[in-house]
Amino acid sequence: MSLVSLRNVVKRFGAHEVLKGITLSIEEGETVAVIGRSGSGKSTLLRCLNALEAVQEGEMTVAGIAVTSPDADLNRLRARVGMVFQSYNLFPHLTVERNVKLALKLVRKMSDAQAAQVARAMVGKVGLADKLQAYPDELSGGQQQRVAIARSLAMQPSMMLFDEITSALDPELVGEVLRVLEELAREGMTMMLVTHEMNFARNVADRVIFMHDGRIHEDGPSQEILRDPQTPELKAFLAAVLH
Ligand SMILES: Nc1ncnc2c1ncn2[C@@H]1O[C@H](COP(=O)(O)OP(=O)(O)OP(=O)(O)O)[C@@H](O)[C@H]1O
Ligand SMILES: [Mg+2]
Repeated sequence: MSLVSLRNVVKRFGAHEVLKGITLSIEEGETVAVIGRSGSGKSTLLRCLNALEAVQEGEMTVAGIAVTSPDADLNRLRARVGMVFQSYNLFPHLTVERNVKLALKLVRKMSDAQAAQVARAMVGKVGLADKLQAYPDELSGGQQQRVAIARSLAMQPSMMLFDEITSALDPELVGEVLRVLEELAREGMTMMLVTHEMNFARNVADRVIFMHDGRIHEDGPSQEILRDPQTPELKAFLAAVLH
């Protein structure tokens, strides 16, 4: 069953058309890497998927919710679609455990004990069981980003969106975050991630989408797309990022 289904989706900021008719299906369990030049619309596409941005035309169903219908329950949508950004936005005055527990208690209405149990499990899953009582500024960037992932996973989303989550990290910290994503992909989480890590896209993603000028310019199995780009635009993009 498709978890994401878009038909002719158009997004404009004023007169500026940023998504120029996106048609796309993503199946349950797929890991999709989104690549493309700066300004091509990658972040906007992700933000539209969980309704952080409204679209102007087209039809969009995500995680069972008809997002473009007037009575769509957007809070329900956002609970089903987790999103992690480049900046991890942890609360600096709260421990790792309390950062992860917060939404579980406020949104999911869990008791403190229930929330603590989920927090321990999720923080353990990203390899930080020994940091539950640490504050964000006591952690490296890679560790903070893993906490942000744990916080999102704790809500038990149907799907995860990741927008360049390793771009602000020191190079030696990128691997530990990518390993968490790789593990999630192996477990069958449906994921869409904007990345500049071409090796990761090739080896971990099932599928690569190349965005160019607000459109999906190429879309296919990651190995094939990256080995044998069909359009001059993707050839030029790959030449620029790989050299
Ligand atoms: N809130 C906004 N208001 C107006 N224009 C916007 C807004 N957000 C994005 N845009 C414009 O939409 C276009 C696509 O932006 P977007 O952030 O989706 O690109 P991107 O592919 O993610 O780029 P990058 O690789 O630099 O992150 C850009 O021209 C950008 O200036
Ligand atoms: Mg972006």
